[in-house]
Amino acid sequence: MLNSNLALLPDYPFDRLRRLLGGVEPPPGMAPLVLSLGEPQHPYPDLVREVLAASAHLYGKYPPLAGTPELREAIRDWLIRRYGLPADFIDRDRHICPVAGTKEGLFMAALAAVPPAKAGLRPAVLMPNPFYQCYAGAAVAAGAEPLYLPATRQTGFLPDFQAVPEATLARTALVYLCSPANPQGSAASLDYLKDLLGLARRFDFILVIDECYAEIYLGAAPVGALQAAAALGQGLDRLMVFHSLSKRSSVPGLRSGFAASDERLMKAFLRLREYGGTASPLPVYAAATALWREESHVEANRSLYRQKFELAERALSNRFGFYRPDGGFFLWLEVGDGEQAGKRLWQEAAVRVLPGAYLAQANAEGDNPGQSYIRVALVGDAASTAEALSRLGAVL
Ligand SMILES: Cc1ncc(COP(=O)(O)O)c(C=O)c1O
Repeated sequence: MLNSNLALLPDYPFDRLRRLLGGVEPPPGMAPLVLSLGEPQHPYPDLVREVLAASAHLYGKYPPLAGTPELREAIRDWLIRRYGLPADFIDRDRHICPVAGTKEGLFMAALAAVPPAKAGLRPAVLMPNPFYQCYAGAAVAAGAEPLYLPATRQTGFLPDFQAVPEATLARTALVYLCSPANPQGSAASLDYLKDLLGLARRFDFILVIDECYAEIYLGAAPVGALQAAAALGQGLDRLMVFHSLSKRSSVPGLRSGFAASDERLMKAFLRLREYGGTASPLPVYAAATALWREESHVEANRSLYRQKFELAERALSNRFGFYRPDGGFFLWLEVGDGEQAGKRLWQEAAVRVLPGAYLAQANAEGDNPGQSYIRVALVGDAASTAEALSRLGAVL
């Protein structure tokens, strides 16, 4: 016997990509360039190595699930600085918990928040379409029905939550939103976030905002959901936000991020984590503490991404619906048929990108909002990015 709910999940995008490209050979002698995976390749700051080495004696201890007070304090201070929040808006010990990468935290948020039924009905979990796949897996694992709201060019690449029927909102237990979004790079405005948090409070659901790309941006720094909460009053009520060091500090392998939420939700989250959560090693907590306290490496990181978006704009502007995203490090390019483009790019140019359809769910009519797109991750160095973009422009 296995959990039959797992069969409800689509195959993971990278498995689908492997299947698509299985047996397809890139041109002999041409160096493969991988832009399918959102794994930052910029060098990470030296302080990671230094702090891990200096704290190596701590591997002999079980680490606390809720992190160390120093880490929670560094995170609290960072949130207050980054979003200009009142100094007492977030409490180090009641509102913050580190996670071993936001992926596991985002998943566990649904297990902690979704009740068996809401208003006597099966609970719904709402998410944008396309979306980070973890949200759908979490909804299914929590026994909820995932509902996918189009986040297309027509909707400004963000879902229109205000258009969701009241009957659906009444059984909604949780909403996921990614801002800046993966893959489209759109960032929600303060008004959008205030309206959405207002809905969460009116219809009694939990709002989970995935802000793991918040520190990679081209123009103004994207606003955060905590700013919306501060503007509305009622503290963090019904809100949980996630941030990650993976993209901000280019340390995807450190597996370190955090959740900040209201006290009631944080208690449920911690209770669940006592049973099945992962604490990070104490040296990782120490490195994360140092990273949240340091900004110069983040600025340097951001400027490397900006250079690559400038390269992309020069190479692709006026083609494939190119636009400069508000944040994140992806190009979301309209190429006709994303799967066919992905296959041709590999076969003819040794460039690996992700077909947009693999990040989205088809509706009842079979329309998939990612179908005509490819997602291109600008995570490599400038030279390999320029080479990949030039090959991409030539093939497509
Ligand atoms: C939208 C989004 N959320 C969360 C994550 C997870 O990041 P991590 O687990 O490394 O913090 C990713 C990683 O690619 C992502 O794209």
